[in-house]
Amino acid sequence: MAKDSSEILGRVSNLEQDDSSRDIYDDWSEDYDAHLQSEFGYISPFVAATELAQRLQHRDLEIIDFGCGTGLVGEALRQQGFVTIDGADISTGMLEQARAKRVYRNLLSADLTARIPLDDDCYGAGLCVGSLGAGHVGAQHVAEMLRPIRRDGLFVLTMNGSYFESGNFEQTFWQMQDDGLWSILKLEEFNYMTELVRPGWLLVAVKQ
Ligand SMILES: C[S@@+](CC[C@H](N)C(=O)[O-])C[C@H]1O[C@@H](n2cnc3c(N)ncnc32)[C@H](O)[C@@H]1O
Repeated sequence: MAKDSSEILGRVSNLEQDDSSRDIYDDWSEDYDAHLQSEFGYISPFVAATELAQRLQHRDLEIIDFGCGTGLVGEALRQQGFVTIDGADISTGMLEQARAKRVYRNLLSADLTARIPLDDDCYGAGLCVGSLGAGHVGAQHVAEMLRPIRRDGLFVLTMNGSYFESGNFEQTFWQMQDDGLWSILKLEEFNYMTELVRPGWLLVAVKQ
């Protein structure tokens, strides 16, 4: 049965720090693209993929999409000409939708709040689009997402503005720069849904 888009967006937006969003996304997976893209005008996948495309000359490097969901980021990357894209997510339902899009090389079932089952330094670039925040992945887990990225690799991240403030993300991001983990190239606000007022943040960094 089709879900109520506003009700489910409200549920996923009002999670507490220790909640898990996995069941909500499993439940939402079949309607997610229709709600987010067609109804709310969700542009973060396009914005993130465009950042990579504008900064990278070559399209053949390996990219990891953390919190890939139904694969909207994979699709946007493909549209920019990237071809070797892996994805990781905790929700089986979301991963099924991503698999059906046939834009990913490998899809990994993984909890990004734990050690990620990927080798060090094996990707040329990484993204995490819309998967940080309460009931999702915390600021303290971002450094682990950098581990599988090679030195000088780009990392692009977008997230909801309320979580950015309540979860101390800005402080963590600058601390990561002070700790020599990455150099921040861009950290700026944008509205990530064209049909709603939905403030968010975009970060582009280079792994050190
Ligand atoms: C708002 S969706 C974003 C999906 C996709 N990146 C996009 O932009 O459409 C958030 C995603 O984060 C995933 N997620 C939440 N907590 C997670 C965790 N602890 N580990 C891995 N994925 C998680 C959810 O399953 C969901 O697919």
